[in-house]
Amino acid sequence: PPCLLLGAPVDSGKRRAGCLMGPDAYRTAGLAAALGSLGRETRDLGNLAPAPRRAVSAVNPALHNLAETVAWTEALTDAARDAMAEGFPIFLGGDHSLSLGSVAGVAAHAAARNRPQFLLWLDAHADFHTPETTTSGNLHGTPVAYVTGQRGFDAFPPPPALVAQENVCILGLRSVDPQENAALAQSDIAAHDMRAIDEHGIAPPLRAFLSRVAAANGFLHVSLDVDFLDPSIAPAVGTTVPGGATFREAHLVMEILHDSGLVTSLDLVELNPFLDERGRTASLMVDLTASLMGRRVFDRPTRSFAA
Ligand code: ARG
Ligand code: MN
Ligand code: MN
Ligand code: MN
Repeated sequence: PPCLLLGAPVDSGKRRAGCLMGPDAYRTAGLAAALGSLGRETRDLGNLAPAPRRAVSAVNPALHNLAETVAWTEALTDAARDAMAEGFPIFLGGDHSLSLGSVAGVAAHAAARNRPQFLLWLDAHADFHTPETTTSGNLHGTPVAYVTGQRGFDAFPPPPALVAQENVCILGLRSVDPQENAALAQSDIAAHDMRAIDEHGIAPPLRAFLSRVAAANGFLHVSLDVDFLDPSIAPAVGTTVPGGATFREAHLVMEILHDSGLVTSLDLVELNPFLDERGRTASLMVDLTASLMGRRVFDRPTRSFAA
């Protein structure tokens, strides 16, 4: 299927501005050409816009830019569902609140085909707050709760289809708030923190998850937050947390995902080009996307080196 690039310049999910420049940074870093060089037909569909703003009532007065995030969620849910019918959507964020809509939309597509939706969340954070539990009021910390049907999202459209908790895997955790921790512990989400990755490596939990996706004939959405990566290689994000995935771990994840052939949609989120250093984070995100879509440094030789 063709790769469909959907710009989602969402900047309402947190207070520090700049993610709205993300889609153009990915374009400038050559995302379309990188995918094209892999032989993938690629169409840049331009940038989406939020749905018309409506009046919303907030359960929690601390919520930041609620109406704007609701409007984006409506537009992105529709756009994601429509794009799944045409190809492999890549959502160019934008902050992580865009995933309330992108994941809800791809899940609706899967449900209409009677197939389960799976979700791989690559992030330092669990993003499992609800509008009631968030202490920061930043809605980029809530998409995993929304798409799995947690309570407290009354201001939002009900997701047209949910992702089952047991179909969610989070890799890279190293900053989880107490309320999220309690909720995660009660949930069926597979959550792997950096401690576990340090001890056992990043491949085993990923492979275990992918075998469940394959066994269930599921669709698989990957949501890649820049802060999954270590800040030393990916500085352009407002929520850096030390101790993230290395260059090698991140590429390995992408290569294993490619080899699985299971990924059906992708978010690239939280890039804040205002914080970047000569485009290096945008370029790394493009290279990781290319790995996910099949770029390899080295085509494995078919003949043996043994004499
Ligand atoms: N848990 C924190 C909060 O709710 C951080 C969330 C960070 N999320 C993200 N998508 N970067 O504010
Ligand atoms: Mn539509
Ligand atoms: Mn996130
Ligand atoms: Mn994060």
